[in-house]
Amino acid sequence: MNYKLRDLLKEASQRPYALGHFNFSTLGILRAVVLACRGLKSPVFVGTSEGEAKYVGYGQAAAQISVWRAETGLPVYLNADHHKTFESAKTAIDAGYDSVQIDETALSLEENIEVSRKVVEYAKGVNPDISVEGGLGYIRGSSELHKEKIEVKPQDMTTPREAKRFVEETGVDRLAIVFGNIHGVSAAGNPRLDIERLKEIHETIPDVPLTLHGGSGISDEDIKAALPYGMSNIHVNTEIRAVYTDALRASLDKDKEQTTPYKYLNSADEAAQRIVEEKLKLFNAIDLV
Ligand code: 13P
Repeated sequence: MNYKLRDLLKEASQRPYALGHFNFSTLGILRAVVLACRGLKSPVFVGTSEGEAKYVGYGQAAAQISVWRAETGLPVYLNADHHKTFESAKTAIDAGYDSVQIDETALSLEENIEVSRKVVEYAKGVNPDISVEGGLGYIRGSSELHKEKIEVKPQDMTTPREAKRFVEETGVDRLAIVFGNIHGVSAAGNPRLDIERLKEIHETIPDVPLTLHGGSGISDEDIKAALPYGMSNIHVNTEIRAVYTDALRASLDKDKEQTTPYKYLNSADEAAQRIVEEKLKLFNAIDLV
């Protein structure tokens, strides 16, 4: 396997496709993602948030990824998703993660720059191949099904000017931006993406791979419209969680006597694999390896 993460992200950002980034917290969901990617010949990013990493174990997650890489030859890379402190980012880096997202978007721009720069310095000192993502803009919601409508306010969105300054002053490899995206799926419909804002950001920092968080619940039309403008990877969590949980409930209801986890978990894992396959096709991330 000769695919470097940095090259994969760069190439995806320059062409009209994006790598999938799928979160996992169980062995079965990770396997579902890898099987989907193997079948469709897709390089892939898998991620653990701080909560997911705490459950799986940082070292365990890194070990599982290297076993999958060795067994399949697929470029599968592990990202520490939405890590909110220097210490948690350092834990992921020290455990052997390929990538870390330092998310200080709740802080002031100056503080965000300061912590993100510190993470870049630390990561590159450990291994120059580790990719660091910074973030700018306020992303609303959480990776759940929301009953209420969620609106993105103009002040939540990333501005091209701040994006340029942030990238120059931190040295991050890629940037998570907000242009209408939220975390989770709203029953009232997710907001539309602001493709004009995305274009402006991409034109201002054309060499920086961009990341779209909150990939669940966005219309196919909006996803396709975003792909040509610097998109390197798109994060999906809620839709996997939702189909997995629905399938698991149905499986437990169907056979109330069943107590063997690998039997009642099967259909949930398969549901996760199917949704990942759909997303890979939507992101045009197939037949790449
Ligand atoms: P969704 O839960 O909306 O798919 O977003 C996931 C995400 O952005 C994880 O970083």
